[in-house]
Amino acid sequence: MIGCGSAHLRMDVRDMSMFPDESFDCAIDKGTLDSLMCGVDAPLSAAQIVLEVDRLLKPGGVFILITYGDPSVSVPHLNQSGCNWKIVLYILPRPGFTGKIRRHVLDPVPLTERGRLPDGFVPEDPDSHYVYACEKMQGLTACEKMQGLTGAASPTVERQGEE
Ligand SMILES: C[S@@+](CC[C@H](N)C(=O)[O-])C[C@H]1O[C@@H](n2cnc3c(N)ncnc32)[C@H](O)[C@@H]1O
Repeated sequence: MIGCGSAHLRMDVRDMSMFPDESFDCAIDKGTLDSLMCGVDAPLSAAQIVLEVDRLLKPGGVFILITYGDPSVSVPHLNQSGCNWKIVLYILPRPGFTGKIRRHVLDPVPLTERGRLPDGFVPEDPDSHYVYACEKMQGLTACEKMQGLTGAASPTVERQGEE
C-alpha cells in the first residue's frame, strides 16, 4: 500500500510507473524494503525499490528509509549504480529500551568513506531502527547513469559535515 498525500493506493513499490519522473519531494519507507529483503529475488527487489524512489524524487528530494538494516546492508542498496544520495544516518533504540544510551539519539551517526559505521561503534539496542535521510543530489546525467549501470560510475556516500 502506498500513501500518496491523503490517498492510499495499492501497488507494487518495485513498479510505480503510474507516476511520472521527479514528481515527489519526499518518500518514506518503514519496513517495506525489509519486507522485500525477506522475499524471493531480494537483491533485485531492493534495487528496484531504490531506483523507483530515485526516479520519482525531484532533485533535492528526500528519501527517508526506516529499516532494521545497518549500513553494511542498506548502504549498498542505496548507493547502487545510477543513484547519488547524500546520506545522513540516525540510529534509534526501540521505544521502551531501558539500556544505557551513551549519545544523543537525535544526533546523526557519521558514516565512513565506505558508508559503514565508525570503527568500534555498536548500537546500544541491537534491535535499533536505522533511519537513513537520503537527499537526492543533483549531477548525474542520463549518460552518467548509463555509465553507472555499466560499472563506470562511483556513487558517493558523504560523511556528516562534509560538503
Ligand atoms: C513490515 S510491514 C511495515 C508496514 C508499515 N509501514 C509499518 O511500519 O508498520 C511491510 C509492508 O510492506 C508491504 N509490501 C511488501 N512488499 C511490497 C511491495 N512489493 N509493494 C508494496 N508494498 C509491499 C507489505 O504489504 C507490508 O504492509
